[in-house]
Parts: sequence; structure tokens; C-alpha cells
Amino acid sequence: MILDIVTHPNPILRKKAQNVADISHASIQKLIDDMIPTMYMKDGIGLAAPQVGESLQITVIIPDHTKFEEYKKNASEALVVINPKIIRHSLLTNKDQEGCLSVPHVVGTIKRWNWVTVAFFDRHGQKHKMRVKDYVARIFQHEIDHLNGTLFIDKAKNILQVKEL
Ligand code: CO
Repeated sequence: MILDIVTHPNPILRKKAQNVADISHASIQKLIDDMIPTMYMKDGIGLAAPQVGESLQITVIIPDHTKFEEYKKNASEALVVINPKIIRHSLLTNKDQEGCLSVPHVVGTIKRWNWVTVAFFDRHGQKHKMRVKDYVARIFQHEIDHLNGTLFIDKAKNILQVKEL
């Protein structure tokens, strides 16, 4: 099922999302099953549960953002990141442009860490520790911000209105 996207200024986007206690619960698995195609159909490369109205520590992220069209064809494959914590990060940062499905028609330049090490659980309840870098690290930071009630417009410089996105 394709879910509706919650947009700014809906207050759910500003709440700290709750930890998922029972990852195997049918309602959590169904939410993940719906979030993945929703991300692709809305042309996103990451999607956090508060963006579909669920204040839970769940985000789905495209496995390779450079292959969006290929992943969109099946719209079934994503990295499922539950209860994530950034446990290490680079000292160096970089600046790049971001947008967000919950803040349509806006892009902005944001400073992010070059790499982050993230501890999280997958949808099977397995714990992972993963170091991601460059744009993937940016996607993780953007999505984890959502789970803490932060939007990219809070951090962005040079906010621009755009027609697409
Ligand atoms: Co977003």
C-alpha cells in the first residue's frame, strides 16, 4: 500500500520518534512493507516513519542512490534501519544540497559529517554496525534527523524554492 506523506508543518514531524520494542510485530512489518514502495513511488531515496504519520524509529533507505530508476522498477528493496544511533562520525564535514518529501518544492545546502558509523537493527531484529560515507552518510544523517524531530530546513543555508521535488 502506498502511504500518504505528512508534510511540514505537521507536528508529528517535530516529535522524537519512539523506539521499536517488537520489530517482529505484524504491524511493524506491514509498516516497513508499505514504507519501501511509498519511498520509491514518491521519488524519495530515504523515508522515515514520521513522514508517513508513525512516530517510530524506523527509516528505509535506497541501497544505492545512483541507481534510483533500477530500484524503482521493483520498489521492494531497501535498507531497513530501526532504532539507529550514530556512534561515531568524522571530524570533517561537507556541504551539499538536500530536499525532503515532507518539505516539497524546497532545497537547501546543509553541512553534514563525511562519514558516520551507525548502529541499528534490521527488520529481522539483527543488530548491525555500519560505516557509511559521502552521500550515503548524508542520507543517513537526514533520516536520523527525522527520527529526532529535525527537518533539513532547520539546518539549511541558501534555501531555494524549486518547481520539481
Ligand atoms: Co526528509
